[in-house]
Amino acid sequence: MATRILIAGAAGQLGSALLSEWRGGTGPHAGRVDAVGVGSAEMDVTDPAAVRAAVTRFRPRIVVNCAAYTAVDAAEADEPAAHAVNAAGAGAVARACADAGCGLVHMSTDYVFSGERCAGADGCGPDDPVDPRTAYGRSKAAGERAVRSAHPAAVIVRTAWVYTGAARPGGGDFVATMRRLEAERESVDVVDDQCGSPTYVRDLARGIAELTEVLAAGPAEPGARPGPVGRTLHAAGGGAATWYEVARAVFEELGADPDRVRACRTEDMPRPAPRPRYSVLSGGSWADAGLTPLRHWRPALAAALAAP
Ligand SMILES: NC(=O)c1ccc[n+]([C@@H]2O[C@H](COP(=O)([O-])OP(=O)(O)OC[C@H]3O[C@@H](n4cnc5c(N)ncnc54)[C@H](OP(=O)(O)O)[C@@H]3O)[C@@H](O)[C@H]2O)c1
Repeated sequence: MATRILIAGAAGQLGSALLSEWRGGTGPHAGRVDAVGVGSAEMDVTDPAAVRAAVTRFRPRIVVNCAAYTAVDAAEADEPAAHAVNAAGAGAVARACADAGCGLVHMSTDYVFSGERCAGADGCGPDDPVDPRTAYGRSKAAGERAVRSAHPAAVIVRTAWVYTGAARPGGGDFVATMRRLEAERESVDVVDDQCGSPTYVRDLARGIAELTEVLAAGPAEPGARPGPVGRTLHAAGGGAATWYEVARAVFEELGADPDRVRACRTEDMPRPAPRPRYSVLSGGSWADAGLTPLRHWRPALAAALAAP
């Protein structure tokens, strides 16, 4: 019988890409596990009884927790709402998994960092100090602590700047927005002083699928290098870019003049939540755990914009 994996937050950007990765027709992970997705209606992570009921009902080998309160600006005005899902909710999922004896992959974020430059040459590593400057970041950092304390074997995966590139009702991610603005406006102003790790959601889903399958396969052979169990890992697109550089690349891929994108500063675009100036995530921990590195952000962006 195929290994059962339960995806919480399955209607979201990453959760739905992960379901497609396992249930879709062609990729390397298609059909390798019995993936079941639940949204907040079936498994509200703020309701510990509902979480336990879902884990008992589906009896997964591993839960991948993609459920989160991700409205970064709204969280500044309602931090308790972010904590309910991202901290208390994450803890409830971890306790239910630990009690049921199932594994857990818990998703987290670059916003746990302060946004000051990290010491590593290729970005922030899992051991760099956590010092969030936003309500969302504080709630996710509290969630990491709750997960680690309730389920020491859980794998916490931080990612960053995730995009699908596809328009969604009620908005869309940065790449989708740039795609739309290229058609609507002569020029676009984009900040050039925030540097991060653009991450194509399909690449991230493929990486999370690989990680989950490694965990489901059980302990490594004696003498093998340490695997991912119990670790905090960073999974994000390779390289680094500013939002301005990403926007220019979107225009280039669309065959438009990238000079129609104009650089501006963060101060020119005030937002309720301060954005990290530097939150590049190093891929070192991911490779060190024996997992396939995510490709560089630039070819990934080209693939996203070419995707049907
Ligand atoms: N997107 C990014 O750029 C980014 C960057 C770094 C880290 N991350 C992390 O990656 C993970 C996935 O993010 P995403 O981009 O896929 O987020 P998303 O598109 O906003 O999806 C989050 C999902 O969480 C669900 N959810 C919200 N409250 C819930 C609750 N109380 N109980 C159960 N489910 C609930 C939502 O489902 P309903 O609609 O059913 O409520 C939604 O489908 C999160 O941990 C996020 O913090 C994302």
